[in-house]
Amino acid sequence: WLCLALACVVSYALCGIPFGKFFAKCLAHVDLQKVGSGNIGTTNALRAGGPKVAILTLVCDVLKAVISINCALPLLSWAFGCSVASFYPGGSHDFVIAVLGISCVVGHMFSFYLRFKGGKSIATGVGVLFAINLPWALLHLGIFIVLVALTKFVSVGSIATAGLVGITACLLFPHASLAFKLIMGALGLLVVWAHRSNIKKLMNGTESKLSFTKRVDK
Ligand code: G3P
Repeated sequence: WLCLALACVVSYALCGIPFGKFFAKCLAHVDLQKVGSGNIGTTNALRAGGPKVAILTLVCDVLKAVISINCALPLLSWAFGCSVASFYPGGSHDFVIAVLGISCVVGHMFSFYLRFKGGKSIATGVGVLFAINLPWALLHLGIFIVLVALTKFVSVGSIATAGLVGITACLLFPHASLAFKLIMGALGLLVVWAHRSNIKKLMNGTESKLSFTKRVDK
């Protein structure tokens, strides 16, 4: 249990690294927290820094979760005295991977390096799904892409994708533990909650649409 707590702290710390803010500062000389939506994620990186900053942000925000979880599992397999396979959905200790996943999402959302402020954890959340199950991640990625293509609002894709995590966890992994399903559902709802300002903007018609060319002033 001490090892699990340690792995969660390391995942939290790794996933708190604000790559978007770093790349935007270095490559576009903008502070993502002071322009556009103030978010440190890919959408605001695209808005304020352009495609190069956005792609780097997206890749790093996804990878930090994938790497955190995949590095922690062998250590935890030794600590719990069980196989790595038992941490995946339906395994005897599947709650472990869900706890690691929520640590990653919380790390990005309440970053230690940004005085506990951060991003909305869509890319990091997708990274968690990639680390747990590839088809699951691809399903959510597909839902996200279709909704963004249809509505032109990234936030609509993000909110729907996150809100469905608990449901798809139950449908795809009926044999997973209740703890796994509940923690993953909570992870999704936490990401929806992080989008509360977007929900307000969508309702009052002020949410900005996806644009690959639009820039905000520095
Ligand atoms: O997942 C983030 C996206 O849905 C919204 O980002 O910067 O427009 O608040 P942003």
